[in-house]
Amino acid sequence: MFTIVKREEMAQGTVILNEIEAPLIARKAQPGQFVILKANEEGERIPLTMAETDAAKGTITIIYMVVGKSTAVFRDLQVGDAYQDVIGPLGKPTHVEKVGKVLCVGGGTGVAVLHPITRAFKEAGNDVTCIIGARSKDLLILEDKMKAASNDLRVCTDDGSYGHHGFVTDVVKAVLDKEKVDQAVAIGPVPMMKAVCAITKQYDVPTLVSLNPIMIDGTGMCGGCRVTVGDKTKFACVDGPEFDGHQVNFDELQTRLRAYMEEEKACYDSHCR
Ligand code: FES
Repeated sequence: MFTIVKREEMAQGTVILNEIEAPLIARKAQPGQFVILKANEEGERIPLTMAETDAAKGTITIIYMVVGKSTAVFRDLQVGDAYQDVIGPLGKPTHVEKVGKVLCVGGGTGVAVLHPITRAFKEAGNDVTCIIGARSKDLLILEDKMKAASNDLRVCTDDGSYGHHGFVTDVVKAVLDKEKVDQAVAIGPVPMMKAVCAITKQYDVPTLVSLNPIMIDGTGMCGGCRVTVGDKTKFACVDGPEFDGHQVNFDELQTRLRAYMEEEKACYDSHCR
């Protein structure tokens, strides 16, 4: 069993942090890798990229938004409760090297995934500018951690309640107009990643994105996580989760993510009743 040792509610309770005892995973995991969690015997398998690992303590940290029944079941778990299954580390780690100037862009809970990657690029000797965004100030997460993990942090909110009033893409464009960037990383909602990649492509900046399609086994067996990258079918769980953002078919990914929306809503509504 994988016991929760710390639990925090963020962004007005819509985002939950769980630090979980998982010593074998904590020892092996690298930035960019993910785990698949199941709360109980009947539970759905949910893939989540690790926000933090602590090999000495033997723990991993996940940060997720409550969006449906399964994450609502996760939210009910308190410190001392346990997930029945946590498998990982899965997927390929982020390829981190010294390239010069790196631009890390995160939105929503994608910021949690971006945090260890940003830190790794900075530790590798890169000059890292980070841009994070949320709909409003109270939905912004991990600002202090992202500040420490980067050389320069810019913050945006859609409603202007904090930082730049507007989308992360406005600031991405402003940075690229002024500076030469050698590598970008964009992690967040699909429309955000698509929009960031459309801009970085104009400036010829290689851009990594981390994809989170529906997954079942997480080991390349079921095909549930298939995505199209450069007209080739890839499995996000074993070929990713990170891909060249300029090659990803984001429209197809978005359509596949919405395939079970009605069923998911009905399931969530009956859970909440
Ligand atoms: Fe089954 Fe990736 S989750 S192939």
